[in-house]
Amino acid sequence: MTEQDKALTADTQESTAAGASAQLSTIAAIGRHEGETVTLRGWLYNLRESGKLLFPIFRDGSGTIQGIVPKAAVRPEVFEAIKGLTQESSVIVRGKVRADKRAPGGFELDVEDIEVQQRVAEDAPFPISLKEHGVDFLMENRHLWIRTPRQSAILRIRAEIIKAARDFLDEQGFTLTDPPILTPAACEGTSTLFPVEYFGDEAFLTQSGQLYIESTALALGKVYSFGPTFRAEKSKTRRHLTEFWMVEPEMAYAGLDELMELAENFISFIVDRVLTRRHADLVLTGRDVTKLATIKAPFPRLRYDEAVRMLNEAHARGELEQPFEYGNDFGSPDETWLSAQFDRPVMVHRYPAAVKAFYMQPDPEDPRYALCVDVLAPEGYGEVIGGSERIASYDLLKQRIEEHNLPLDAFQWYLDLRRYGSVQHAGFGMGIERAVAWICGLDHVRETIPFARTLNRMYP
Ligand code: 4AD
Ligand code: MG
Repeated sequence: MTEQDKALTADTQESTAAGASAQLSTIAAIGRHEGETVTLRGWLYNLRESGKLLFPIFRDGSGTIQGIVPKAAVRPEVFEAIKGLTQESSVIVRGKVRADKRAPGGFELDVEDIEVQQRVAEDAPFPISLKEHGVDFLMENRHLWIRTPRQSAILRIRAEIIKAARDFLDEQGFTLTDPPILTPAACEGTSTLFPVEYFGDEAFLTQSGQLYIESTALALGKVYSFGPTFRAEKSKTRRHLTEFWMVEPEMAYAGLDELMELAENFISFIVDRVLTRRHADLVLTGRDVTKLATIKAPFPRLRYDEAVRMLNEAHARGELEQPFEYGNDFGSPDETWLSAQFDRPVMVHRYPAAVKAFYMQPDPEDPRYALCVDVLAPEGYGEVIGGSERIASYDLLKQRIEEHNLPLDAFQWYLDLRRYGSVQHAGFGMGIERAVAWICGLDHVRETIPFARTLNRMYP
């Protein structure tokens, strides 16, 4: 049971809501109260009426439950209050818990009393009805859309993924160190920086905490950061947000091999956690959970060159429209095709250094390649993790900063890490939204975060 579940199911205080006193419960915890009278605090999710019988469905954030209201069994005011009650009106309900095998959660509520907190006006109903809506409409009403059961389930799974990621790293001896959001320089290329005016100077929203946690890693050994990151992505893809959350572990005295081992154990732990603790929510999102049960370390490892060979063969067979040009970064269709070839994430390593970030350590066996890894999720979800060993040499790092036309002044502190006790070190970043999209089986990252920020959307 998660902390969240414990809180949701924490027993229960006396309540005098809805007229008489009854145990306060959540819908998630209602199984403990079979045969008892409980009080629920929530909202009306749906209402079916059939003459003298009403079937309200209540939701409270932990789940939904159907109530039964026979006219003959309740006080007339109770029947009248529920009859015609509008969707999403807030209610405090008292009723007796009855097991019912046909009910989705296993229980129904024989309603005894109700107190309507706020009745949604008939002439201005809740905009999201139970019929289908277009995505633009739903995103415009995202603040309300998140109340629907599937969206709520996704947000609970997101919380579980974050908790699992942090628990894994905490248990492995990583210390959480928080990097700044306002930064003087680029980490992941200058084309996606968001500038901010900083008391007359130019600053940028961070693209990644990496450079800063390299310094905390040299202070503390094994560290990680978890926080919002920003990319002014002009692309409209189902994988890109302009604001997203990244978890980034960084280790001193570690190289690419240790990094890949960490990545596969990290992902396996997270998927296993979600499968055990959020199984019902995964099912609610429509996820085929058998596809997640296979996600166990070790993961297949593929050199970039080998991946390119596979892509070219796929193109020759007509499975890929575009031929792959050696030396490029993989495009979305390439990633999608590659990741669809395996039943677990695949780790593509040693990309040509020329297409990767300035800080990546070249392979000593062939410096045209970088000691880096991208982890591609299966089922066509593409890159969820990107990481590398970092350049440890002062001279080489300085040269790369210059080659990339980055402002040397802003990187003096970063070069200091190579002046004072430089060591082999490595780290990666996992985008939370990419992980949520894959684990929940969603086709767009916009549903993985309460309020997505994309090229075309800043509202709500
Ligand atoms: O591959 P990226 O750009 O790597 C870095 O930022 C490194 N500095 C991380 C590190 O080594 N500490 O981004 C890492 C991950 C990607 O694999 C992807 O999951 C996610 O962040 N990501 C995005 N997610 C949503 N929208 C975007 N625009 C994203 N860009 C990257
Ligand atoms: Mg990347």
